[in-house]
Formats: sequence, C-alpha cells, structure tokens
Amino acid sequence: MSGQPELRIFATPAHLFRGAAEEFCAQAVAAVAQHGGFTVALSGGSTPKGLYQLLASGAFPNLPWDKTYFFFGDERHVPPDHPDSNYRMAHDAMLANAPAANVFRIPAEMKDAGAAASVYEQTLRSFFRLGPGELPRFDLILLGLGPDGHCASLFPGTDALTETKKLVVANWVDKFKTHRVTFTYPVLNDAACVMFLSCGADKASILREVLENPQAGFPSQKVRPTNGRLLWMVDRAAAAELSPQTKSRLA
Ligand code: 6PG
Repeated sequence: MSGQPELRIFATPAHLFRGAAEEFCAQAVAAVAQHGGFTVALSGGSTPKGLYQLLASGAFPNLPWDKTYFFFGDERHVPPDHPDSNYRMAHDAMLANAPAANVFRIPAEMKDAGAAASVYEQTLRSFFRLGPGELPRFDLILLGLGPDGHCASLFPGTDALTETKKLVVANWVDKFKTHRVTFTYPVLNDAACVMFLSCGADKASILREVLENPQAGFPSQKVRPTNGRLLWMVDRAAAAELSPQTKSRLA
C-alpha cells in the first residue's frame, strides 16, 4: 500500500455511487472484523450526496452502522442547520440513519473558527486516544475535487497547505472571504484509504491536470497516503480528457 493512485471509471454517476457504496461497505465490514470499528471522514460539496443517499437507502444491509464512526474532513463556517453546512447535507442524506453518538460533526457554529478547529482536534485526539505527536489513522477519508484543484478545504495559496503539526485548522479562504475548518495533510496522508469522488464534465480538465501533470502543485496532488490506498472513483464524463496511458497506468 504505497499511495500509488488507483483509478476506477464508471459509466454514469449512478454507477459511480454504487461502486463507491460497495467499496465503502466492504471497507467497513473489513475494518470492524479487524479492529472492531470503522472510522470514516465524510466530504462535503455536492458530489457525495448521491453516495450518502444510496448508503442510507437500505440497499446495503451489511453496513455496520452501530460500529461506524462518522467524522468530517472539513466544514464551512456556518451553523449545522445552514444550507451551506456539510453536516446538514450529510445528515439529511444519510446520518439520520446512524446512532447519534457515532456522529462527530465540526462545531462550525462557533464564532471563532480557530476555536472550532481546536475543539475538533481535541475530539479526534480523545476518540483516537492519541499521545503527543500521534496521528489519527482513519480507515477511510472521502474527498472531492474542486475546480481549482482543492480538496477538503485545502485551497490553493492558503495557509493550511503548509501546516505540519495541527490535525485541524481554521483556513482563511480569501475568494470566499470566510474561514473554513479543515483536516490538514498529516491527517489525510495517515489514512488507510483516501477515496476521491468526482463526477461530471466540469471536472474533466482539472482531473486531467491533477492525474497527468504532477508538477502542477494542486492541493489535491499532495494527498499521498504514506501507508494507505489512494482511490480515484470517477464517472466517464469526468474522465473524458484522460489519456489512454493514464487510464491503463492507474486502472
Ligand atoms: C466542501 C468540500 C470541497 C468539495 C469540493 C468539490 O466543503 O465544499 O469539502 O472540498 O469536496 O469543492 O465539491 P463538489 O462535489 O460540489 O464539486
């Protein structure tokens, strides 16, 4: 498990979400068998909603909800009932199915985003029983790909890109004139598996750049699990500009 990307291309978004749900469930069942629980960090944005709805649809009865622990890789600086809230999206799509005690949301309603990040870092440290300098090893971290090559809330040109100690930070995103609360690279790259979900023609050019131009320096290109899998799950429209070499190299 070296972080060499794996690429899986699905015909349609529906096929993508089914493939991602099967992978999610297989990893959950394996993690519970190996160490008694499955820790997953959810992504926000619009793409994963279809996956969350499918997982909650009953189509995957073997999903061990009672032993699955849900966290968030990033959050907008808004209360949990706000339309822009990643928590709200995931809750409405899926988390209403999960035991409330198994859901750990980012307290982004806090006025001070930095304080919200510190509280969430403490939540990770106590849940994973971390000692000083230790990292939380998530079984699975879900990520999306932004049109500017960002993932989680690690945007180009922002301070969080160079954070090497903290697990969670408040990151000022000037183009949105707001803070986001986000996992840092040490957490992302310590995961057993990072799964990028990306679909639609509007992601084709950035996906080509990210997978075929390693020197481009996009934030999503710095996600390379040190001892874990890096899985790109995309639909045919998002993969439309990838070269046959890339498709065969990463298949
Ligand atoms: C967020 C996300 C962000 C998202 C990408 C892709 O809070 O917005 O965590 O990183 O995954 O922007 O978003 P879409 O899936 O909506 O294209």
